[in-house]
Amino acid sequence: MTITFVGHGYVGLVTASVFADLGNTVWVIGHTKEKIENLKKGILPIYEPGLEEIVRRNVKAKRLLFTLDYKESVPNSDAVFITVGTPPKPTGEADLSIVFEVAKKIGENLDGYTVVVTKSTVPVGTNKIINEIIAAAKPAKAKFDIASIPEFLREGQAISDTLHPDRIVIGTNSKPAEKLLIELHKSIDGSYVLTNIETAEMIKYAANSFLATKISFANAIAHLSELTDADGSKVLEAVGLDKRVGSQFLLAGAGYGGSCFPKDVKAMITIAKRSGYDFSLLKAVEEINQQAMHGIVEKAKKMLGGKVKDKTIGILGLSFKPDTDDMRDAPSIFIINSLLREGAKIKAYDPIAMNNAKRILRNVDFQPDSYSVAQDCDILIIITEWNEFRQLDLREIKKYMSKPVLLDGRNIYDPRKLREMGFIYTGVGR
Ligand SMILES: NC(=O)c1ccc[n+]([C@@H]2O[C@H](COP(=O)([O-])OP(=O)(O)OC[C@H]3O[C@@H](n4cnc5c(N)ncnc54)[C@H](O)[C@@H]3O)[C@@H](O)[C@H]2O)c1
Repeated sequence: MTITFVGHGYVGLVTASVFADLGNTVWVIGHTKEKIENLKKGILPIYEPGLEEIVRRNVKAKRLLFTLDYKESVPNSDAVFITVGTPPKPTGEADLSIVFEVAKKIGENLDGYTVVVTKSTVPVGTNKIINEIIAAAKPAKAKFDIASIPEFLREGQAISDTLHPDRIVIGTNSKPAEKLLIELHKSIDGSYVLTNIETAEMIKYAANSFLATKISFANAIAHLSELTDADGSKVLEAVGLDKRVGSQFLLAGAGYGGSCFPKDVKAMITIAKRSGYDFSLLKAVEEINQQAMHGIVEKAKKMLGGKVKDKTIGILGLSFKPDTDDMRDAPSIFIINSLLREGAKIKAYDPIAMNNAKRILRNVDFQPDSYSVAQDCDILIIITEWNEFRQLDLREIKKYMSKPVLLDGRNIYDPRKLREMGFIYTGVGR
């Protein structure tokens, strides 16, 4: 099949590359000349493990093509996917302006029969508007159907998630569109959920809201455990062993961040409000998440004897989670800015996200590795659980620090071992 993706971010570029690798001819439309020229040479605008190799392989095989011009690909495509960003507005609702702008351009360039698929996360009812925009913009002879295929990939393991998703949700009210999309996904190994568009739109928000709820529940249990001398990690481990609960996303830490959970929870609260429902559970999820990030700042302050002014604080990990360069809504931003406001000096290191972090964080002394961060530090805080932080030579780290104080914001170390080594150690909920 010939298909087009509009948008080449974490969702667009990964999905497009995987479909090209499966033998389709895939066009990717961007809106920045420099990025499109780079992509043609195999230079990627984002970091995702394994992606560069797939892009280069398919560019070379001429199955993956990049353009700025809708005319070049849309008229010849069987399906066109919208994979642009839907960032939050200050009110919390999703900003759909790019989705609508792109829908109009797709409409203007349709020819023959095309299925237009929204993969961007959009509130219930958005595809109805997309349908109207395309119908108004398209040439008279062109025919189209719309579908919603929400995306569930996780940054850091996006390729494997695209090839082996837990489920493929196809929401459409058209049988020909459903048939074409099932055919397109035939080499992808996941259970189908075939439904209408509104249900597909809601599934994505419900899924992310539930996962965020699980994380906030874990953080609330961790907090309560600290107040009661229970070991929160053990409590959560035991609760997660119940198959009805499951252990994934049941870990306490510095809170959730990233490009999806914070914005999707906010959008879900707004969707509910507009529909006349007060989603108080999700408001509490947001509040607990804020407390989790704030909790790291408070713990650091306590471990430093109540005062952070002029203390040197080392931060390990900046991206919102390991194996990505994505800094959007990363807890590190809140934590670092709070500590800076109180007069701390911040040194920081991240294996991949440093360039993106430099664009967002001011007055931070970025270092080339963990050991140079530790040099002369009064406290070291782990914010992102990159694997390389699990393998640190902690004896060396201890030698470099002015005082061996370690705040483990992701509970990656064994508290007993660290204390035996002479560290003053605190985790979350332990
Ligand atoms: N990142 C994830 O893990 C993830 C997972 C599931 C769903 N989603 C959803 O998928 C959507 C995309 O997310 P993302 O993380 O890939 O975003 P992103 O910011 O990485 O990518 C957005 C892309 O849209 C492009 N774009 C912006 N304006 C454009 C325009 N006018 N014309 C053409 N292209 C334009 C950008 O250049 C970029 O390539 C969002 O709705 C998001 O909520 C993201």
